[in-house]
Amino acid sequence: MKKAGGGLKPLVYVTRKLPEEIISRLKENYEVDMWPEEEVQVPREVLVEKVKKADALLTVITDQLDEELFSAANHLKVVANMAVGYDNIDLDAASRRGVAVCNTPDVLTDTTADLTFALLLATARRMIEAAEFVKNGEWKSWSPLLLAGTDVHHKTIGIVGMGKIGTVVAKRAAGFDMEIIYHNRRRHEVAEEMLGARYCEMDELLAEADFVVCLAPLTEETKGMFGADQFRKMKKEAIFINASRGPVVDEAALYDALQSGEIAAAGLDVFELEPIGADHPLLPLPNVVALPHIGSATKETRLAMMDTCCDNLDTIFADRAPQTLVNKDFLNWRKQEWSTGSLGIAED
Ligand code: GLV
Repeated sequence: MKKAGGGLKPLVYVTRKLPEEIISRLKENYEVDMWPEEEVQVPREVLVEKVKKADALLTVITDQLDEELFSAANHLKVVANMAVGYDNIDLDAASRRGVAVCNTPDVLTDTTADLTFALLLATARRMIEAAEFVKNGEWKSWSPLLLAGTDVHHKTIGIVGMGKIGTVVAKRAAGFDMEIIYHNRRRHEVAEEMLGARYCEMDELLAEADFVVCLAPLTEETKGMFGADQFRKMKKEAIFINASRGPVVDEAALYDALQSGEIAAAGLDVFELEPIGADHPLLPLPNVVALPHIGSATKETRLAMMDTCCDNLDTIFADRAPQTLVNKDFLNWRKQEWSTGSLGIAED
């Protein structure tokens, strides 16, 4: 695999320490430079320096790839973002410079749906609180209403954002005999036919659902879409689950809704500003289950996501269209140059 100018291998800058097996794979075709820390984000000034020389970036969701960053790039051809979401990337800025942006859908769908449903169960059945109760030596006797939660089976789940992950959450909900309602930009005929899911306007969903599950991607339209009005429209017994992106929710409004009993509980895998500290206002609330953005975090899935990133780099440098390209404009820009082939333009 050669650089456009011939000679040296393309240079990939990897913004987070990845396992040796992935780096070995990359080294077969690329020069690899990598930020050496696993749990600490690459500082902005380092990334700005690195992008000047890079032909490719392998990024994670904490990297902000904005106009300023793309304008510092001199030969960048592709960004392979190790996530399904790509709200950390200015797609217009990338497309204007002919940079392909790829994500990692599909390989994480089941895993993220598992976590979303686990969070729903954990919140409804107060599992984290109960586990802490045992560990703290507070368990004195079986008692009739000790840590009594709320049923999940035969309740109504309202899924906001019926993409691939939403559909697989619905499949899990069907196994729990739940009634499935959803709201989405477009109707999802397959989910309707296969799972009996019913499309609802947003207000109807909020009024009917026992579990409101947010899986909508973060966009200009979805930012802050769960605010005081939406929480007020939910049932008092409703449990709110967010496994998409934190800024889709107005956290101050969620706090008020939980405090005042407007809704019963919340299970959150994502937050407005991540990471949150132990002093985050939502954490002392007993009816909040908080996780550190681990939707796709299984070893198998994270490795599959890294492999998808490598596949995307390989297709770009082999002058083929990547399977999971997100900035469709890039294709128009390169229309003449790409060989035709099947394109898997991802939606979630
Ligand atoms: C994680 O949040 C992802 O978008 O994959």
